[in-house]
Amino acid sequence: MALYSDKVMEHFRNPRNVGKLDDADGIGEVGNAKCGDIMRMYIKVDDGIITDVKFNTFGCGSAIATSSMATELIKGKPIEEALELSNKAVVEALDGLPTHKIHCSVLAEEAVRAAVKDYYDKNGIAYDPEKFRESEDPHEGSCGL
Ligand code: FES
Repeated sequence: MALYSDKVMEHFRNPRNVGKLDDADGIGEVGNAKCGDIMRMYIKVDDGIITDVKFNTFGCGSAIATSSMATELIKGKPIEEALELSNKAVVEALDGLPTHKIHCSVLAEEAVRAAVKDYYDKNGIAYDPEKFRESEDPHEGSCGL
């Protein structure tokens, strides 16, 4: 069986929503201290809906594929729904990832959450800090580039 699903390969080769939003309402930047990969997510919010989203990543193929899929999953959705997006949902939408690459999908989840938090902070919107707890890295020390 191939290591990566067709969907992962497709999103890696043709990532959606790559770039930067100059007029972003929220920007989230996260990094994985172990592999050094960095991801930045930009969201545009209108009336509680994410109307546009872009990302940049200095990361591995799985980081590119998962952030691409994450942007597809949150675009056009209410901001609260984006906050609920889990790395598990992103991985499922990509038809799976090898176990040692799961931590790359955590980066995508965290980047979305960081962008939402930035949006809340900039707009003085109260939120439950519990929702912004750091995710556990499920495969500490196993970056496997
Ligand atoms: Fe670091 Fe994938 S995000 S190896």
